[in-house]
Amino acid sequence: MSSKTIQGSPGYQKHSISPRLCYYRPHSTGGEMSFAWEVSRSMDRRPRSLNPKFFYNRAGSLLFDQICQLPEYYLTRTEIKILQRMQDELPGYLHHNYRLVELGSGSAIKTRLILDVLDGMQDGVEFFPIDVSEILGESSLDLLEAYPRLRITGVMDTFESGLEFVRRYGGGPNLIAFLGSSLGNFEPHDAQGFLRQVSSTMNTSDLFLIGLDLVKERGVLERAYNDSRGITTRFNLNVLLRINEELDGNFVPDNFEHHCIFNPDRSRIEMYLRSTKRQSVSIPKSGLSLDLEENELIHTEYSYKYTVPGIRSMMRGAGLEICRTWQDARGYCVVLASRRPGRTGIRRRATAHPA
Ligand code: TRP
Repeated sequence: MSSKTIQGSPGYQKHSISPRLCYYRPHSTGGEMSFAWEVSRSMDRRPRSLNPKFFYNRAGSLLFDQICQLPEYYLTRTEIKILQRMQDELPGYLHHNYRLVELGSGSAIKTRLILDVLDGMQDGVEFFPIDVSEILGESSLDLLEAYPRLRITGVMDTFESGLEFVRRYGGGPNLIAFLGSSLGNFEPHDAQGFLRQVSSTMNTSDLFLIGLDLVKERGVLERAYNDSRGITTRFNLNVLLRINEELDGNFVPDNFEHHCIFNPDRSRIEMYLRSTKRQSVSIPKSGLSLDLEENELIHTEYSYKYTVPGIRSMMRGAGLEICRTWQDARGYCVVLASRRPGRTGIRRRATAHPA
């Protein structure tokens, strides 16, 4: 593997693994610092909380893969079904050679369903996965084998910075995919801000494909986040193990329970870790000594559930125009959108290839 700093991508180091596979990593993310600091900030006040982005270390990512296969977790399966249905129609919206830009290294199955479409219409396909961690796993090698004309350029950064990187990288147009109802894990105000940021990095021919879960019967929702095999419990508790490992914490996972409810007023699943007894915990690298009450909750995640009109107005508000909506009877929706003309400041796309 070779690595060099690229002139056109200041702040990033390029790691070339093979002629068709490379990734860019920012010189410094301050990642470790911010974990200790963010934990200290969010746990040293009431109500206590932990940012859901900390779920996804290696163990957490593996557990999340298992969640996606649970019988109760209908989201992944339903989204895959919609993407399969969409395959015939998507070419009608792709008038150029598109690159796939994926926010979050989703399941390889979904990536393949989109790559199938692009590969079937184009001479070659470029794929830019963007994620803070685990950007190029074994699945990248499998993809390269399955698609001989594919080139993968990973960007190991936040979604916002990664999109900005791709914009500056030049080329395009881009089909930007944000699947798995991950937007639902943002608070509404942040979701809107995030969509606005996505649309501001888009050129007129770029397309945005987003999957979102819809409001439905409470029981179905709560079971999806509280499965009978206890995988979601392990996933939630894993964040405490991560704090123990990386920040020298002394959480006893057995003293916590996974707690999940649907809040219909806010239209969201709320996930917590509940302290099952009065206890003290210390997290030395965050400089914390905490006293937790019996039944005290640590908030770990929201998962917002949408309605189609709600999605429409959220997208409009962010300067996006819906081209097509695919919906499934199980209450899931995939939306294809473009940037509304003249809505956001058009930023010139760099033409020079940085590499
Ligand atoms: N984006 C996923 C969702 O909202 C994330 C998720 C699924 C999740 N299951 C979870 C997060 C369990 C925490 C716990 O559905």
